[in-house]
Amino acid sequence: MGQAMAIFGFIEHLGLSVVLPKVYRHVIGETRDNVAWTMIEISQEQAEDWWQVENLYDLSFAPGREALSSYRLREGVSPVSDLSMVARAAESGVIAAIRYWPIVIGDKNAPALLLGPIAVHPAHQSEGLGGGLMRASLQMAKELGWKRVILVGDYPYYQRFGFVPARELEFPPPTNPDRLLCLALDEAGFSGVSGAIKSVKSVASGHGV
Ligand SMILES: CC(C)(COP(=O)(O)OP(=O)(O)OC[C@H]1O[C@@H](n2cnc3c(N)ncnc32)[C@H](O)[C@@H]1OP(=O)(O)O)[C@@H](O)C(=O)NCCC(=O)NCCS
Repeated sequence: MGQAMAIFGFIEHLGLSVVLPKVYRHVIGETRDNVAWTMIEISQEQAEDWWQVENLYDLSFAPGREALSSYRLREGVSPVSDLSMVARAAESGVIAAIRYWPIVIGDKNAPALLLGPIAVHPAHQSEGLGGGLMRASLQMAKELGWKRVILVGDYPYYQRFGFVPARELEFPPPTNPDRLLCLALDEAGFSGVSGAIKSVKSVASGHGV
């Protein structure tokens, strides 16, 4: 369990805004006899990673995930490449991934991030990889000047990263409002920001803003 956290500690120590988009490697393992070394590589997601990440999401979520309303906010919009990361094990490929999408909120179209999907391969869950990807990418989002993040997910998991229920925001239906969470990345955060969460395409096309 502590092994995977060491990787992220390594990255955070170097400062993510400096190290990405380069690829960094860190070797972890036991120092006793019968050494079982595992090498995990953390990098920005590259174009060639797309289908491995999709496969990981298919494995991790119930069938039909793309019918969820969050996918309507992603349609026709590219993920935020600076924040979309993969963890790759030397022998098994992509074992964890996180993506972010740009969205806008309310009548003023306040820019924000939609966090997710995030998934860790079942064989590597509870090793700290999910938490590591969350913290590393949120720190980078802050450094890049993003002010606010939303997601739809389990509060018992995401509260540890500072997410709180987003009672002033409206996610496209059908979405359980209790699962809509938000995190302010700076003092401005969600101050004066409320209302409908929309695709950035609604602004670009001039509709629905
Ligand atoms: C959710 C997920 C990304 C967490 O990644 P991870 O690497 O396993 O998480 P971490 O190792 O950082 O943290 C593990 C801890 O989170 C807890 N946890 C994991 N998922 C949780 C959930 N949905 N609700 C509450 N706690 C959760 C674990 O019980 C564990 O608790 P512990 O530290 O007290 O033992 C991963 O479990 C996963 O991919 N799940 C399937 C896909 C999914 O549900 N994605 C999130 C969509 S909202």
